Amino acid sequence: MATPWWTRAAIYQVYPRSFRDLNGDGTGDLRGIVSELPYIAALGVDAVWLSPFYPSPQRDSGYDVADPRAVDPIYGTIEDARELIAQAHARALRVIVDVVPNHSSSERAWFQEALRSEPGSPERARYHFLDGRGLAGDQPPTNWTSWFGGGAWTRVVELDGRPGQWYLHTFDESQPDLNWSNPEVRADGLETLRFWLDMGADGFRVDVALGLAKDMSYPDIDDPESLTLAMRMDLDDGSVDAMNRRRKVANSAVLDRDEVQDVYREWRQVMDEYDGDRMAVAEAWVPPERAARYVAPDTLHQIFNFDFMAAPWDAVRVRGVIEKTMASLSYVGAPPTWALSNHDTPRVVSRLGGGPLGLRRARAMALIAHALPGAVYVYQGEELGLSDALLPDSARQDPVFFRTGGAQLGRDGARVPVPWSGSEPPYGFSDGSLPTWLPQPTDWAAFTVEGEIADPNSALHQYRATLRLRAAHPGLVDQQAFVLPEAPEGVLVLERGAGLRCVVNFTDEAVTSPVSGRVLVASDASVMVEGDRVTLPPSTGAWLQT
Ligand code: GLC
Repeated sequence: MATPWWTRAAIYQVYPRSFRDLNGDGTGDLRGIVSELPYIAALGVDAVWLSPFYPSPQRDSGYDVADPRAVDPIYGTIEDARELIAQAHARALRVIVDVVPNHSSSERAWFQEALRSEPGSPERARYHFLDGRGLAGDQPPTNWTSWFGGGAWTRVVELDGRPGQWYLHTFDESQPDLNWSNPEVRADGLETLRFWLDMGADGFRVDVALGLAKDMSYPDIDDPESLTLAMRMDLDDGSVDAMNRRRKVANSAVLDRDEVQDVYREWRQVMDEYDGDRMAVAEAWVPPERAARYVAPDTLHQIFNFDFMAAPWDAVRVRGVIEKTMASLSYVGAPPTWALSNHDTPRVVSRLGGGPLGLRRARAMALIAHALPGAVYVYQGEELGLSDALLPDSARQDPVFFRTGGAQLGRDGARVPVPWSGSEPPYGFSDGSLPTWLPQPTDWAAFTVEGEIADPNSALHQYRATLRLRAAHPGLVDQQAFVLPEAPEGVLVLERGAGLRCVVNFTDEAVTSPVSGRVLVASDASVMVEGDRVTLPPSTGAWLQT
């Protein structure tokens, strides 16, 4: 049997709000994505993952879904979605859509019906509505906190005008959590999957996949702040402390409960009814020892690897994460995944130090990510070497910023519209009739797609080279042919199939390594091979053909 495509795919994450705006309203749209499919295909990736484009009040940039089986008019129409899938397929690109099962928008008809219904009604039973504690019921039912800061419960006003029950929201109060122990919610989830599978979607990215099951006895938890802290990517430096914060909330009353897999077993059966190796990837920020449950043969197919994403610029630590990842998934036979950033995290250039040094490191890390066995995800703009944009507070949109009273800046810096061409905003992202939904920096002229295509040493050319090599030589990412040999201090070497080696110098000094072969791709033009030695300047790396 041929190996399914997703076991070794390169997948490009499109954040529709910020990819390409064809109708000039300052927000990206589906037709904009269609117009840039040639760009995506030219990168050498196998698939696109589209962040949500469903009807939404956009309180959490579309992760607050009011109708999971339709398209928000700001992005286009259902016909545009159909066209996007068809055009992607015509270019041999698969399409993964986001599903957001943990919660809905408070604007979803279901939630509005729940507000208009009595406590104890079937309408309320689709969510988690509870009476408050205390004689007057004015204390929240549990001490759980929101990932976005603040409490996780909001009190509603009943039809008679009196303060009434409380509803649970792991995120913003505009994102009430759905009750997945309710058969109606389960059936609706399957309907959503079938809707997009019938439309031709090749897979799903499952938002907050660790959250669906709750302990329905609603106990208080120890150290409730840990719920908020564990999910803060900006605090995760890959350290033992950060891992322990995550361990604290794994397999708890609120997150990562074993019953969540019952939902995915049903989902898997539905996906398996369809041809074409449909797949699903779990967004589940769990410690390595909990990861395999999400990717067992009867659950989902992939799980995002946040340990790799959080790994610091340190050869020993990166190596450790790679080894641990491979070990934690190998016994269920699931392929690992690798990503350096996404729409929730700081951009990798910024995370690894920012500025020219951050860029050098990020490019070297990309050589590693693309050389590893399994699937790799690339977040739009990463291939251009973008950093987080500095934004004035008045421009910020992320509920994290508002819920923490500005104590956390939130994720907007990584979500700024992509610069395509030209020397000033909106850099070809839109026609400029209306301002872009987040302002673009004025110093991005050096990072446009157009500019990087013209520069053979750009990050874009590096990404194209490695991603195309992966696509052309499946053996490169074959799990069997993978060795992490011993290397000098501060250097990481990966040996791949077909005589390929990836060598990265994490130190601040040039290193000369005894490796023969020719340079296939380098993160910097000054990487040199002389005879059987390669010289890598500080914070650089190369793929060598030996
Ligand atoms: C996921 C999304 C994030 C969103 C949250 C709530 O973590 O990636 O963007 O805010 O879920 O839906």
